Amino acid sequence: MYNLSNEQIKELILLAIEARKKAYAPYSKFKVGAAVLGADGKIYTGCNIENASFGLTNCAERTAIFKMVSEGCQSFNALAVVGAGDGPGESGPCGACRQVISEFAADMNQTVIISAGQDGEYRMEPAIALYPRPFMKFEPNND
Ligand code: THU
Repeated sequence: MYNLSNEQIKELILLAIEARKKAYAPYSKFKVGAAVLGADGKIYTGCNIENASFGLTNCAERTAIFKMVSEGCQSFNALAVVGAGDGPGESGPCGACRQVISEFAADMNQTVIISAGQDGEYRMEPAIALYPRPFMKFEPNND
């Protein structure tokens, strides 16, 4: 896995906790924050943003990744996500976010996904463990 120092891990988790405070989650009342370490060395943060038309909700992970891409960086080495409660629990990025992660992870075998709780307790795994067989870019055909 991509080598992160303990300080980097702590910083990503703290920034995700900070980003979580900005969540717009009036429907589920479940706030989430994320922080992504871009290949450019910058950290991009995001929160979940819900909508009265529920399916339009954007998760914290995708908000952070889309912010990174819109700022000109197209790959990342680590992502931290923080939900409610203490400890990493059994959660982690949802299926849609796992697909988006696979698009922009620097290397699915190396890119680190950190799932953390409010108390800073976390678990860490390579992106490939969460999403072993992504839908890949395709070649259009004229069928
Ligand atoms: N959510 C995230 O932002 N990230 C996750 O990893 C799981 C779910 C959001 C979507 C919705 O706003 C709320 O959490 C409840 O599902």
